[in-house]
Amino acid sequence: MPTLNEIRSTFLNYFAKHGHEVVDSSPLVPRNDPTLMFTNAGMVQFKNLFTGLETRDYNRATTSQKCVRAGGKHNDLDNVGYTARHHTFFEMLGNFSFGDYFKEEAITFAWDLITKEFGIDKDRLLTTVYHTDDEAFQIWKKLGVPEDRIIRIATADNFWQMGPTGPCGPCTEIFYDHGDHIWGGPPGSPEEDGDRFIEIWNVVFMQNEQFADGSMVPLDMQSIDTGMGLERIGALLQGSHDNYDTDLFKSLIEASADVANSDPYGDQNVHHRVIADHLRSTSFLLADGVMPSNDGRGYVLRRIMRRAMRHAHLLGAKDPVMHRLVPALVQQMGTAYPELGQAQAMIEETLKLEETRFKQTLERGLRLLDDEVSSLADKAPLPGAAAFKLYDTFGFPLDLTQDALREQGREVDTDGFEVAMAEQKAKARAAWAGSGDSADSAIWFDIADKHGATDFLGYETETAEGQIAALVKDGAEVKEAGQGDTVQVVLNQTPFYAESGGQVGDSGEIRVDGGVIRVSDTKKSAGVFIHMGKVVEGLVTAGAPAQLTVMHSRRSAIRANHSATHLLHEALRDALGDHVAQRGSLNADDRLRFDFSHNKALSDAEIAQVSADVNNYIRQNTAVETRIMTPDDARGLGAQALFGEKYGDEVRVVSMGRAETGKGHDGDTYSIELCGGTHVRQTGDIGTFVILGDSASSAGVRRIEALTGAAAFEHLEREAGRMAEVAGVLKAQSGEVMDRLKALMDERKALQNEVSNLKQQIALGGSGSEGGAETKEIGGKKFLAQALQGVSGKDLRGLIDAHKTNIGSGVILLIAEDDGKVAVAAGVTDDLVGDVSAVDVLRAAVPAVGGKGGGGRPDMAQGGGKDFSGAEAAIAAAEAFLAS
Ligand code: ALA
Repeated sequence: MPTLNEIRSTFLNYFAKHGHEVVDSSPLVPRNDPTLMFTNAGMVQFKNLFTGLETRDYNRATTSQKCVRAGGKHNDLDNVGYTARHHTFFEMLGNFSFGDYFKEEAITFAWDLITKEFGIDKDRLLTTVYHTDDEAFQIWKKLGVPEDRIIRIATADNFWQMGPTGPCGPCTEIFYDHGDHIWGGPPGSPEEDGDRFIEIWNVVFMQNEQFADGSMVPLDMQSIDTGMGLERIGALLQGSHDNYDTDLFKSLIEASADVANSDPYGDQNVHHRVIADHLRSTSFLLADGVMPSNDGRGYVLRRIMRRAMRHAHLLGAKDPVMHRLVPALVQQMGTAYPELGQAQAMIEETLKLEETRFKQTLERGLRLLDDEVSSLADKAPLPGAAAFKLYDTFGFPLDLTQDALREQGREVDTDGFEVAMAEQKAKARAAWAGSGDSADSAIWFDIADKHGATDFLGYETETAEGQIAALVKDGAEVKEAGQGDTVQVVLNQTPFYAESGGQVGDSGEIRVDGGVIRVSDTKKSAGVFIHMGKVVEGLVTAGAPAQLTVMHSRRSAIRANHSATHLLHEALRDALGDHVAQRGSLNADDRLRFDFSHNKALSDAEIAQVSADVNNYIRQNTAVETRIMTPDDARGLGAQALFGEKYGDEVRVVSMGRAETGKGHDGDTYSIELCGGTHVRQTGDIGTFVILGDSASSAGVRRIEALTGAAAFEHLEREAGRMAEVAGVLKAQSGEVMDRLKALMDERKALQNEVSNLKQQIALGGSGSEGGAETKEIGGKKFLAQALQGVSGKDLRGLIDAHKTNIGSGVILLIAEDDGKVAVAAGVTDDLVGDVSAVDVLRAAVPAVGGKGGGGRPDMAQGGGKDFSGAEAAIAAAEAFLAS
């Protein structure tokens, strides 16, 4: 007996062998189809290939597609657990031709695969064709199917449409007869809904396109889209008509029985079936980025989770159990869908959190339900108000209450439930109207009421398809807007981030058939995302499907700045202390700003440390992780939360970095913060980080402005350029300075010479009467003696020579003082040299000025002293010597 994993492989290998590209399943959240809540068929990811909008390098493909049918048009949730074939999650095996082969080959492939590869008994097979499709009828006949087992069907059952618009066409289906021991009739008969004849494969001949105005036109090319539920074919090949009787489901049911300590196939089997099914859909939805919430896709997920949790509760489980089943699922399906294993920890954590929280109200809610029911007449419906109270106060989704009453054959007054819901909304609005919020917000409440909250896809993707839910021009809703109009656009889902938590709104483009809106900013109000834009081309109408593209480069820069802000916050706490808390922030595309409590300017060393730390964690290049948890759990982890901020029941917790410096929090994670913003995948994506400056923002609050990525690099380049410029100027200037210095020194030397010449002249000027130099006649010889202040010793020799020339014949004695130094010089003209020696004159003089001799030649001698006040006495001593 082949396992489901083997059957999946056989199918894909069969079509690979016949030239088909094996394409991965697309995510459960369709990015290319705004009208779909979840991917519900294999063809969803190929929609645009059938219409020719898109081409790929293959024209045959085969997939095993993850599908969810819960919420929206195909909602199987209510029946899960109670029937043999309903699932919220299933796998659709399919083969596709895009303008390549058509009816004949498609039917032949299908027949060949199930009768030969799978070996299914031909006599148990029936087929249906669209009532006018003679061609398909003939192909079946040719393959040997008896005419009475080719049934013509005139209804939509054999004309397949993906939705109100899009590619479509007639189809042919293959049915299997499980035998007359099971009740039911062939397709087209009144008993067709029984379990005896089961459809196993639907082959669609894609040949038309349906438009919103009701027209249907033939497509340019004829294509094939097929779908076979793996669980059904699996049951058949494993000899059962019950999908839950297959190897995969049995292992999940047994795991459920194991954790609940119960019999897998006894009375409690229905609970295990529900749990097994819901475990698959919730785990796969979580792995594809859907998080439990109170609206949109997140609410469908929450409904499925809580429904499973009530069944676990009915099994008597005291503690949360769903998360304990995830390993069994990963073991079964993790190889075919690696995303499941990658997300395992997150799936377990989210399931555990949801179950822990729901358990707190589940029991009380069920008691209230019992009380309400006990006062009702047999089979009377539960009043809507009671169901609403269970919803509003105890977190019971409506379908959970319906499911709980199903066993008693009792229904819920759903109209009464809607009335109670509407009343509550009206009250909330009235309360909001009094809150003083700007009046123009009223329109967003109207739009939110009418169209529901916007589903944000932007954590996972920057492009998606959406549907224009509302167009607002000049404060009022309009049906259309033309070129040049300034508009605000609301979409049912969007990848655009709306300004919040300091992160600026995204910009980008909304493209519809025949028009383009350039989006400059995105904001949100009352749960709707408002795309602020201008129609730059054509015409745009409300209701139109649209291609949404966030400007990638800008968003990347914003992500980098936001993640860097988290690292900066932590680095500041390390450098300055735990008193540092966020007081505000701005994460724009061109810069980041972070305000924090601290009451003095940062020193250069502190800024250098913070900057080095942030860059270190950038280079560490660890993955940025996001988890959802309760605010209390997040605080328990040490997450940084904004003081005084109100958080909902659940918060996103963003962590990054492996602590190397300072104190890590949960053991070794560097930064943990509550944050709804968008972040880089790896810290290395930030690139580089540069602090521009630190300034005072308000009393006790500092502000740091910084850059990351390309902006930081450009800044550093500019700074480097400026420094090179300054160095160049300095270099050029230093040449000039040297020249100038040399000139100054030359000038100084020249001045010094001049000064000394002048001094000499002043001294010489005394040869008459002016300079105080007197010439006496002593012993028949002229004697000139002078005491000079401010004249240096080295000038004396020149002075003596000059005096010699002046007096012609005689003896000269000069005593000079400069800077506390006393110099003495004596000279004798040549004619007298034999008579008197300059050395003797000098020696006679110096003792009076405190000197100790001196020396020289007979015509010129020099010596020194210490005491200028003895100059007169020295001159007198020289005179006495000459007189003797
Ligand atoms: N798209 C077709 C289906 O879902 C094959 O049945």
